[in-house]
Amino acid sequence: MIRSRLDTEGDDYRGRREAMLAKLRELDAEHARAVAGGGEKYVERHRGRGKLLARERIELLVDPDSPFLELSALAAWGSEFPVGAGMVSGIGVIEGVECVITANDPTVRGGASNPWTLKKSLRAADIALRNRLPYVNLVESGGADLPTQKEIFIPGGQIFRDLTRLSAAGVPTIALVFGNSTAGGAYVPGMSDYVVMVRERAKVFLGGPPLVKMATGEESDDESLGGAEMHARTSGLADYLAQDEHDALRIGRRIVRSLNWRKQGMSPQAAREPRYPAEELLGIVPEDLKVPFDPREVLARVVDGSEFEEFKPLYGASLVTGWARIHGYPVGVLANARGVLFSEESQKATQFIQLANQSRTPLLFLQNTTGYMVGKDYEQGGIIKHGAMMINAVSNSTVPHLTIVMGASYGAGNYGMCGRAYEPRFLFSWPSAKSAVMGPAQLAGVLSIVGRASARAKGQVYDEEADAAMRAMVEAQIEAESLPFFLSGRLYDDGVIDPRDTRTVLGLCLSAVNSAPAPEPAGFGVFRP
Ligand code: COA
Repeated sequence: MIRSRLDTEGDDYRGRREAMLAKLRELDAEHARAVAGGGEKYVERHRGRGKLLARERIELLVDPDSPFLELSALAAWGSEFPVGAGMVSGIGVIEGVECVITANDPTVRGGASNPWTLKKSLRAADIALRNRLPYVNLVESGGADLPTQKEIFIPGGQIFRDLTRLSAAGVPTIALVFGNSTAGGAYVPGMSDYVVMVRERAKVFLGGPPLVKMATGEESDDESLGGAEMHARTSGLADYLAQDEHDALRIGRRIVRSLNWRKQGMSPQAAREPRYPAEELLGIVPEDLKVPFDPREVLARVVDGSEFEEFKPLYGASLVTGWARIHGYPVGVLANARGVLFSEESQKATQFIQLANQSRTPLLFLQNTTGYMVGKDYEQGGIIKHGAMMINAVSNSTVPHLTIVMGASYGAGNYGMCGRAYEPRFLFSWPSAKSAVMGPAQLAGVLSIVGRASARAKGQVYDEEADAAMRAMVEAQIEAESLPFFLSGRLYDDGVIDPRDTRTVLGLCLSAVNSAPAPEPAGFGVFRP
């Protein structure tokens, strides 16, 4: 059992907790923006039409009082588009079956898909496919956001490709159509296994009446071109005709029940609560990420019974590795302790990842790293080879990976510790996370040294004043770009979470991951020892 050494009475703890709470208040405000959708005017209009909001639809679809793990809630943060990207996505439980659910938010520009909506939608389908989770789309969308069509039209074809690939992989796809689903959008019901349409509301056609008039001269109306009745009785695109929105959601639940879905992964053992309160997770990460913290303090508040069987504790101490359980599921943990990764840590990580693959145990990466060690001694000691071994192991490991960015995630440390490009099944950030190619001051300093050398080579005098201004500007820019809201806005994670929710979120992820069967054994590439 981990014995905590956290001084919860001390000033350090209080300061860290206050800083984290301030960041969580900001996070709440950003989440509220996503929940507000298109704002009061459009919400009123939508309700005035007798329609349910996207989140209300989800709430009525999932089992009462069951958890909903929302994903990419801050999508589009920092862009010209509203936070949330006009879509709600997440994992919810319908009739006892965990499903990936997406819902267009018609109060945001008619539910039209902008470049961030597209990324969010593709991520949802990817999660459904890799974890073998039935995929339910609640459709009401103006299709492509027309002014940004160049960003979405061509890559957007993947939405329909993914739907049919999910079906081919035996993962059910279900479309509940509440409103507009025109043009490309018509292929969402078109490619789905099951289609429900709401009477007098669903409109599904390749071209609306004006386009048809332009193309062929034919006079038509919405209902005869793409109404729910027509699709249920004439074209056969709708499998079920719902009387209203509540009826569509009821039918959706019935469809999921009839799937007779069985999870194919492992079942958890009985879970035990950690011996230390989750509340104390707020006071662990220092404001200044240069100050190290012990990730065992985090594990003590996340894993079952606070029990952690540490592997190789005396070797490569900058990286903590070991075995634990979360909500009864076994995990292998790799957690950064002092930030920098040396050759020993890389070799230890490689061996540990191989061991987890031998025993088919999912891996949890807890990131707080400034990257691999640089300098003559380390280069001569083979830090590139050893870091490459670790990256090889992470890349080719086939057990499910989950990543939490607790603090720093800089340089190739982001790669070795299973950052986004290494396709962990799920990746969440804490509000204290920061990620970039290197720290802002270091990056600005490197640019300055390079600029100075270039001026010298050309025989020019270096402008020190301009250099200072450049450094300040670059530092501010890199700092802003390394913050979690910005990175979450670009879908470089699946969401920013309250540290206190870490155990719950990981438990939901481990349960979702085990909807899929145990993956094939890994075949690693050539290791350079
Ligand atoms: N691209 C960009 N903006 C869009 C849009 C789209 N595809 N669809 C709707 N919007 C905008 C509207 O311009 C409007 O903006 P405004 O309020 O600032 O004026 C806002 O979203 C709401 O649209 P509105 O038409 O008032 O809402 P509605 O609920 O009455 O109708 C639709 C919604 C989707 C039925 C209707 O907007 C529509 O037919 N859109 C175009 C659909 C289409 O042909 N898409 C082709 C995609 S390939």
